[in-house]
Amino acid sequence: MSAFEYVDGELRAEAVPLAGIAARHGTPCYVYSRSMLTQAYREFDAAFEGIPHLVCYAMKANSSLAIVDLFARLGSGFDIVSGGELERIVAAGADPRKAVFSGVGKTDAEMEGALAAGILCFNVESASELDHLAAVAGRMGLRAPVSFRVNPDVDPLTHPYISTGLKESKFGIEFAEAPALYRRAAAMPSISVRGIDIHIGSQITDLGPYREAAGKVLGLVDALATDGITLSHIDFGGGLGIRYRDEAPVALADYARMLRGLTGGRREALLFEPGRRLVGEAGVLLTRVRLLKPQATRNFAVVDAAMNDLLRPSLYDAWHAIDPVRPRAAEAKLWDIVGPVCESGDFLGQDRKLALQEGDLLAVRAAGAYAMSMSSNYNSRPRACEVLVDGESTLLIRRRETTAELHAQETRLP
Ligand code: LLP
Repeated sequence: MSAFEYVDGELRAEAVPLAGIAARHGTPCYVYSRSMLTQAYREFDAAFEGIPHLVCYAMKANSSLAIVDLFARLGSGFDIVSGGELERIVAAGADPRKAVFSGVGKTDAEMEGALAAGILCFNVESASELDHLAAVAGRMGLRAPVSFRVNPDVDPLTHPYISTGLKESKFGIEFAEAPALYRRAAAMPSISVRGIDIHIGSQITDLGPYREAAGKVLGLVDALATDGITLSHIDFGGGLGIRYRDEAPVALADYARMLRGLTGGRREALLFEPGRRLVGEAGVLLTRVRLLKPQATRNFAVVDAAMNDLLRPSLYDAWHAIDPVRPRAAEAKLWDIVGPVCESGDFLGQDRKLALQEGDLLAVRAAGAYAMSMSSNYNSRPRACEVLVDGESTLLIRRRETTAELHAQETRLP
């Protein structure tokens, strides 16, 4: 159930009116519901109750310290993709021994940091990366725990920019290459072979691609076992979609039933890397209408949030629901909801039927994932603040950036 509901004609986050948050903290502002975040994690975790498993929240979806802290307190592990994300989980008080490190281009320094922190596993994506990691671990006198991310060549049926498990993609190791690479890794003194992983894409709303990829990967695990290579975990990645418009997301119970069916009786622990599914629907981006600009062919509502705050519509043609915080009884018109950034691609939504006046507040829904974490300072816009709502209380978990901070790292010419 959503914690963003209308009560007495105005939209609330849990028990707190969004208008009050805007008055106190200004706009644009991301607002998250602690109960929805908690519930999403618990639902995922509970779906695999009774089998050894670890949910590793893919923190790229939303890496704000308080969000990481919240998931760590719930028992979550983390999927990280950079040294910066490793430092974030440490800063948030989370346990790096529950972190898996994904990504195609880890640097030596990132490998060193992760080895020193004692992370759970490196998800290795190429033969070359294995060699670099073996060298770094060898120098440190350590054994690096390794899982190979294999590419099952399955179409996840999602946007091409967020499809990762097709053989044309830069991600993962080709299936046919995997057995030889496992044999090579098993013989390396500074490598400890632990697992296998896949991640086929994001915003997946169909169980079929998951079933196909899981079947392939389990076949590979069995083939490796006959080669004498046994694994302690299988990581099924992330990618489960949410509802932005009219999608029918995969029910967690169905996803878990499918995987329980395929893995029943196996001894490997199961790992998961959900990102969007844990945070996406738990956040809104609160923005205020600055001015209205009705024109002959299109009506523009210029708001104070922009593509630098929410890149998804501009980059992926993504559709986010946009709702008035206090709906008006007046007649609705079609509006393009655009930001102040100097790009025609700067829109949050197009052709939205709304009754608007200048100064109105709007909530852009499902902005908990890949919104703040993909935000930028384009047009020298300070990044927005973030507020976590918990019942009747609110907590400013990130204050608004100042314009002075935007150029604090820069110097003028000598
Ligand atoms: N594991 C790996 C290795 C990943 O690359 C990703 C996401 C995830 C897990 C989590 O996927 P999720 O459960 O959130 O779908 N910016 C795009 C999404 C990019 C996803 C990148 N990788 C968007 O806004 O739709």
